[in-house]
Amino acid sequence: MCGIIGFLGNGEAVPVLLDGLRRLEYRGYDSAGIAVLNQEGIVRRRAAGKIANLEAMLTSNGVAGKAGVGHTRWATHGAPTRRNAHPHMTGRVAVVHNGIIENYRTLRDDMRAGGRRFESETDTEVVAHLFDALLEAEGTPAAAMTALMERLEGMFALAILIEGDDVVLAGARRGAPLAVGWGEGGLFLASDAIALAGHTRKVSYLEEDDLALVRRDGVEILGTGGHPVKRPVVDTELSGAVIGKGNYRHFMEKEIHEQPVAVGETLGRYLDPDAGSITIPGASLGPGAVERMTLIACGTAYYAALIGKYWLERLARLPADADIASEFRYRQAPMVEGGLGVFISQSGETADTLAAMRYARGLGRTVLAVTNTETSTVAREADLVLATHAGPEIGVAATKTFTSQVAVLFCLAVATARDRGTIDHHEVARLAGVLTTLPSTLARVIAMEEEFRQIAWDVAEARHVLYLGRGTSAIVAMEGALKLKEISYIHAEAHAAGEMKHGPIALIDEHVPVIVVAPGDELFDKTMSNVEEARARGGRIILITDEAGAADAGPVADRMVVLPAVDSLVTPLVHAIPVQMIAYHAAMRKGTDVDQPRNLAKSVTVE
Ligand code: F6R
Repeated sequence: MCGIIGFLGNGEAVPVLLDGLRRLEYRGYDSAGIAVLNQEGIVRRRAAGKIANLEAMLTSNGVAGKAGVGHTRWATHGAPTRRNAHPHMTGRVAVVHNGIIENYRTLRDDMRAGGRRFESETDTEVVAHLFDALLEAEGTPAAAMTALMERLEGMFALAILIEGDDVVLAGARRGAPLAVGWGEGGLFLASDAIALAGHTRKVSYLEEDDLALVRRDGVEILGTGGHPVKRPVVDTELSGAVIGKGNYRHFMEKEIHEQPVAVGETLGRYLDPDAGSITIPGASLGPGAVERMTLIACGTAYYAALIGKYWLERLARLPADADIASEFRYRQAPMVEGGLGVFISQSGETADTLAAMRYARGLGRTVLAVTNTETSTVAREADLVLATHAGPEIGVAATKTFTSQVAVLFCLAVATARDRGTIDHHEVARLAGVLTTLPSTLARVIAMEEEFRQIAWDVAEARHVLYLGRGTSAIVAMEGALKLKEISYIHAEAHAAGEMKHGPIALIDEHVPVIVVAPGDELFDKTMSNVEEARARGGRIILITDEAGAADAGPVADRMVVLPAVDSLVTPLVHAIPVQMIAYHAAMRKGTDVDQPRNLAKSVTVE
């Protein structure tokens, strides 16, 4: 969602704020703004659209000051206009905010009745007015922040620039992340450590309802009740270089190419190739300990969950459900005694996933998190964390974190199967061998990029695209359709191939490319029957298969790509790459904004 940053230091604030905002832009890019403090008081600049617009404005109309706040917005309340852009200011304060203030209407009506005037349609402006009033009433930023937290409802992170006090910046966290950065040249508040790469690696993550008061001589962190607390200073290991684009045109392109390393690094934590073993440290997965697994996530991570479900059922013979986080909690889904909740989230901050996890905890169930962000809220609140080690993912469309999640879930399924006795140690060793060669297979598939690009150029002309598959390939098809929609804005649907005849086949004509994900496994012939049905109705068939499939396919496809053969269990990892690359190159062909597609944001911290 929105990205926020605050800085108090020895040098000029604007370059630091802009640099941080550029790194946070993946969180939202509807508008951007900064406010800095100087001898004139608080001075603000805002622009609708991307940070480049704000930069252009600052080039012609710059501001100086050694403290400030900045914001990049993903609009929730109010259109993405300059008037609604943060920071919102009144009196002695300027506020930037990520999240939603749920009771903003009541607060605004009360303050309007008291004579305050509002300029924007946002919930954030209410915070500015309320904090300004509380500062008057309470006298100190600490007391005003404590009172503010008592009045606000919702999930949010705040950074507030204050004029006329030794506390120059105040921060608060409730439900949305906020980090304090300890740099040589200054002190920071930021939505995540990525914003601070290149400035400092020393970061403290605020806990729920923590406040941070930033003075020239340091940062005081107050816990619930306003008592000083210490939060550990951690080394983020992020450098500016790690999160740059390198020689790639887009982060998404870079991240697709990083998959052999991301998956390899991730597997390295669960797989011992020498011993031929796969372990999930800290987990009891055998009968008695776990009777059922419920895998919960959103979007792409939900597709990883679905693949995990297939593997848990098949390998471990364990009843498993995959569920969309935003639905799970509100339908009050029961979780049986002995049920384990597995929550999958790249960011670890997705509001729906977090809420579903808290619901599961409320039912007394053990919860396990699969996340790429070990410092995230999901990770902190889980009983056990299974980390993916994909490195920062900046492109809004998830790629390397998806395959890394899928790799972890495969390890989880194998370890569960072993503990339940549905596979023996010979099979575990065989599967460990399969995983050991997986990163190099992914690299070979990536080297086939030109073939995927050619398909993508064909697909880019279409208005509608259909993806088909069976088994875990149906899920890869769904992920392919989601990727295509997200970044190329082409309408795409995915269906389990066997479902076609029950309705979706009516969509097919000669203008609809049908992309079929069909490795040469035991479901191949069944899928091919469905492909024939599509072809008979004029559908243009693009077949993504492997050597075994290609040998069996016959002349069914208008186009075919032949991937290296792998064990049929792990095909989703290998077949994910072509569907990602087809989406990427279709978007390139159409000239859309690959890394920052319209209406989307990377980390979805609102419900
Ligand atoms: C799609 C995509 C989203 C995320 C979803 C969950 O490319 O990136 O669908 O997968 O918003 O995000 P996380 O994994 O951070 O919970």
